[in-house]
Amino acid sequence: MVTAPGNLIVIFGLTRYHNDMALLIKNGEIVTASERYMADILCENETITRIDRGITPPKGAEVVDAKGKFVFPGFIDPHVHIYLPFMGTISKDDYITGSRAALVGGTTTLIEMCCPARKDDALKSFELWMKQAVGKSACDFTFHMGVTKFDDKSEKQLREIVKHGISSFKIFLAYKGAFGVDDTELYRTLKLAKELGVIVTAHCENETLVSERCKELLAAGKTGPEFHEPSRPPAVEAEGVHHLMTFAELTGAATYIVHLSCKEALDQAIAARQRGVRVAVETLIQYLTLDKTYAEKLKFEGAKFVMSPPLRDKRNQEILWNGLRDGLVQTVATDHAPFDFRKQKEMGKNDFTKIPNGIPSLEERINLLYTYGVKTGKIDLHTFVNVASTQVAKTFDLFPRKGTIQPGADADLVVFDPNYRGKISVKTQSMNLDYSAFEGWKLEGRPSVVTVRGQVAVRDGKFVGKHGHGKFLQRQPSHF
Ligand code: URP
Ligand code: ZN
Ligand code: ZN
Repeated sequence: MVTAPGNLIVIFGLTRYHNDMALLIKNGEIVTASERYMADILCENETITRIDRGITPPKGAEVVDAKGKFVFPGFIDPHVHIYLPFMGTISKDDYITGSRAALVGGTTTLIEMCCPARKDDALKSFELWMKQAVGKSACDFTFHMGVTKFDDKSEKQLREIVKHGISSFKIFLAYKGAFGVDDTELYRTLKLAKELGVIVTAHCENETLVSERCKELLAAGKTGPEFHEPSRPPAVEAEGVHHLMTFAELTGAATYIVHLSCKEALDQAIAARQRGVRVAVETLIQYLTLDKTYAEKLKFEGAKFVMSPPLRDKRNQEILWNGLRDGLVQTVATDHAPFDFRKQKEMGKNDFTKIPNGIPSLEERINLLYTYGVKTGKIDLHTFVNVASTQVAKTFDLFPRKGTIQPGADADLVVFDPNYRGKISVKTQSMNLDYSAFEGWKLEGRPSVVTVRGQVAVRDGKFVGKHGHGKFLQRQPSHF
């Protein structure tokens, strides 16, 4: 049982796995954020030990032929929810289904939001979230620690949690009464983060504007999922970003805006960055590929596409793709928040404010980013690797252990087949859900082999990994 901070370390220690087997990946084209070349990769005892041409396999080594394929560093999703009690229900995936889906989709490390309710104890919540993953996850994982209340007790506990290897916090400027913090709490959280060198990730929407507009829309009989977007238009998100930027400026804390969806919000982040505010920006694969017309689908189908911030007008997609290309947007995540259409999304049948928020996409992030980003020429291969792996590792204190291919790095590798052709379907997905937001979408390329610290977890696109192999990644704060 994970009960006390002291024990946590012991429990983490138990999850260590030593692999004496060697793995050789031959004939692949290695692509990192900055380089592209042909070479073999030798992996021993969980790490990459040699990169060279014509490596002879050591005795007993497993050999993977990557001819005609790319070899990418394992992808990292910087924003997922696997265990999420939220809006009166609980997320459908767990670390068995979630880590399997992640790996099939080429994601070898998950950064999950630990989201205690305001009334909950921070340390106990951290232990609870940890318990969901330890012994179950097939891929490596860590957490952003949600700060949903800030008082003397939680401050002490946050210091403790950072000592356990957490180097990022999460705050919500939205979800009044559930996760949202007030301005005093926001200021104090950022001051603590600055002192500890922790980066603060933030959901930026003005919660008062959201709740007032929701009340107005409902009173006018506007109850369908199509009214979710008008309840929180771009100005609401831009105000949230501006608000955070002011607090970041005055405290000097490093910040990271999660799930940025639109030009108005990006403009605020860029303006702040230009005056020296420390801010990185994350967008989501959903905002790059879907738009608000999906949430307008008839017969409540639009509920499948309700998340916050909402899907936006299509004009924003080009701005976000260009932002990735030009380095204005640093990362692409999923904010995977898995709720079924039947019974869960249906909770909001007569009131869009009761539709559990989230568009599940953990399994599809990399394939969609490649097919609709790289193949269409919107971003190049290096940007693809950078925004979905390297930059995430750098921002969240995992680099160079994760996020690149070099001797000494963890042997998390994705052998990617650019000649694969297929379609997304709920019938074949690994996520534990009754729908796919991308049903029928064409894919051009997918991971064929995926390794987690030298152990093959996906072969021929199928999960062959081991639950419990995934390790908690302890991180040291660097954002002083
Ligand atoms: O709609 C969303 N984003 N759901 C998950 C919770 C959050 O805001 O991150
Ligand atoms: Zn959020
Ligand atoms: Zn989220």
